[in-house]
Amino acid sequence: MPGKSPEELKAEFGFEKMAVLWNNENNHGSSPMAKLEIEKALEQTYLYPDPHAIELRNLIAEKVGRKVEHIAVENGSESILSNIFQAFFFDGDELLTSDGSFVAVYIWAEAHNIDVTKIPLTKNYAFNLDQIQKNISNKTKAIYIANPNNPTGAVISKLELRQFVEDIPEDILVIIDEAYFEYAEGLGLDYPNSIKFSKPNVITLRTFSKAYGVAGIRIGYAVGSPEVIEALNKVKMTFAPSNLAQAAGIGAIKDDAFVNKTVANNTFWIGKFYETFTQMGLNFYRTGGNFVMIDLGSEEKAASLTKTLAENGVFIRHLKTFALPNCVRVTVGKPEENQFFLETLKKIYLEFSN
Ligand SMILES: Cc1ncc(COP(=O)(O)O)c(C=O)c1O
Repeated sequence: MPGKSPEELKAEFGFEKMAVLWNNENNHGSSPMAKLEIEKALEQTYLYPDPHAIELRNLIAEKVGRKVEHIAVENGSESILSNIFQAFFFDGDELLTSDGSFVAVYIWAEAHNIDVTKIPLTKNYAFNLDQIQKNISNKTKAIYIANPNNPTGAVISKLELRQFVEDIPEDILVIIDEAYFEYAEGLGLDYPNSIKFSKPNVITLRTFSKAYGVAGIRIGYAVGSPEVIEALNKVKMTFAPSNLAQAAGIGAIKDDAFVNKTVANNTFWIGKFYETFTQMGLNFYRTGGNFVMIDLGSEEKAASLTKTLAENGVFIRHLKTFALPNCVRVTVGKPEENQFFLETLKKIYLEFSN
């Protein structure tokens, strides 16, 4: 179930003050440069978009230090995942991944009739790379890794991921989803940029939905070997993404000022969240994204905290449907929303912890 819109929530509960922190969106809004390009593109909506999205792919190529034939764009990175399943999987092929990761992966694999082997997360809610590697079989067509993982926030270090990728046979595709790349870099972690691995079987997914704030317009990209990218371009809809979506990417990718502001706000508030959660004795996990996961120890407590916060106008995500029933996830919002969340949490803490 996707979250209800803030408008629906306001109409339902009539709050004066609200903080919607449940979808890992960028509450600062959209990149102004993206908006400018979208406005310009509105004059062109009677035309079909460039099916090769050359301008945007060139800009991405320049940004990530690759050539245009290494770049595919689509209606969000979720669409790229779906295209990967369509382009590479045959009957009996299996996707190997983890439990407790990005739910769209499981949904799209199922929609394409693909068997998914899910390895349990480690006790720290991270991808268990050792076990994933041990479970490779002759059915394994691809491995999906989210770094950082959503919803747990866990980050795989540079050395760990490089070693893992080196050890995977080259006929298995390694999908590395870096939807929160900009946030992870901003947090100053030991965090790998998987594009630099330059392995022909590695495909990196990135998106304009998070730090660039254009989730609603649907634009994401993949960086991989020309052979893999060509296969993805063969299965995509001819005119995807739309010219408004291409325009959003063209503007957003140049908008360092907006991304820097967003990332700085995130880094600051992640620190504040950690500080407050530590003072309150909450069992939280360090994150590479714009969200933090807290383990409440029981499903009842996780559900009750989510409900009590919602009754006070603060919306966070109970992770029951993510196979993490004891946990909740809260997204970093604007400063006033984060402040409101922390104040409300402290106020109701005694009630739910008893
Ligand atoms: C790990 C991960 N990958 C991909 C996405 C979706 O990105 P997009 O909006 O580009 O489809 C999300 C969104 O929540 C995510 O958490």
